[in-house]
Amino acid sequence: MSNKAVNEVKDKVAIVTGAASGIGRATTELLHARGAKVVAEDINPEVEGLARPGVATLVADISQDGSAERVVALALERFGRLDILVNNAARIVYKPVVEMTREDWEWVMATNVTGAFLHSREAAKVMIPNKSGAIINVASYASYFAFPTIAAYCASKGALAQLTRTLALELAEHGIRVNAIGAGDVITNLLNDIMDDGPGFLREHGKGAPIGRAAQPEEIAEIIAFLASDRASFFVGSVVMADGGYSVQIK
Ligand SMILES: NC(=O)c1ccc[n+]([C@@H]2O[C@H](COP(=O)([O-])OP(=O)(O)OC[C@H]3O[C@@H](n4cnc5c(N)ncnc54)[C@H](O)[C@@H]3O)[C@@H](O)[C@H]2O)c1
Repeated sequence: MSNKAVNEVKDKVAIVTGAASGIGRATTELLHARGAKVVAEDINPEVEGLARPGVATLVADISQDGSAERVVALALERFGRLDILVNNAARIVYKPVVEMTREDWEWVMATNVTGAFLHSREAAKVMIPNKSGAIINVASYASYFAFPTIAAYCASKGALAQLTRTLALELAEHGIRVNAIGAGDVITNLLNDIMDDGPGFLREHGKGAPIGRAAQPEEIAEIIAFLASDRASFFVGSVVMADGGYSVQIK
C-alpha cells in the first residue's frame, strides 16, 4: 500500500455509528490506525471499551432525537472539526410481512433510515461551512435485492441508497461527497438477535457468492476508508457493491 493510502485520513475527524461491533468497530480501528480522530457511537455500552487517545465514545440510540446533535457536538468539542460521517448502525427483524407488526417495521426504519438521515443532516450543517466532507452509508446488497422474511430491512436499505443519492446531489456543490457501500455477507453479530449463530449463518450464506466466502468486517472498513479519502474524489452518489459478486450472478 502506498504511503498516501496509509496517511489518507490523518488528522481528519470521523463519526462512526454502530461502532461497538462488526463493521463499525473495524472501521473505528482502521481510521484510528491511519491517524484519524474518531467519535465512536453505539447504543451498546460496550462501545466505551474503544475509548483511548484519539477515540471518544458516545452511548446513544441513533434513532432518537438529539443523538445526532450530541455526537456532532462531541466531535467538535473533543477534536475541533468534523470531516467524515459513517452511517453504519442497523437493526434487522426476521418475520414474514404478514406477521410483522407496525412496531417491528418502525423499529428497523427508525435506526436504518431515520438515524442516518438525522446524523447526515447534523453532520452536513458543520461540513458545509468547511466546503469539504465525506459521508459514507453502509447499505447492502439488500438495497437492490430482496430476501424473504426481512422486508423492513430490505426496504430500509433501499431507502438508504436513495438517501445517499439525493444527499449527494444536495451536497456536491459544497464539496461534500456522499456514497454508500452495498455490502454482501460479512461475518458480524448483525443476526445475533434473530438466530442462535448469526456469524455462522453469514459465513455459510457467503459461500453462495462467486468468491465462495463471506467478508471479514475489515474488508468493508477498507472501502469505507477509501470512500472517506481524497482518493475517492470522483465518487458522488455511488453505491459501491462489495458483495463477493453475489449480485452479479443468476442462480
Ligand atoms: N453483516 C452483514 O452481512 C451485512 C451485510 C450488508 C450490510 N450490512 C450492514 O453493515 C452495517 C453494520 O452491521 P454489522 O454487520 O457490523 O452488525 P453488528 O450487529 O455487528 O453491528 C451493528 C452495531 O450497530 C449498533 N446499533 C444498532 N442499532 C443502533 C441504534 N439504534 N443506535 C446506535 N447503535 C445501534 C449495534 O449495537 C451494533 O454494535 C449495518 O448497516 C448492516 O446493515 C451488514
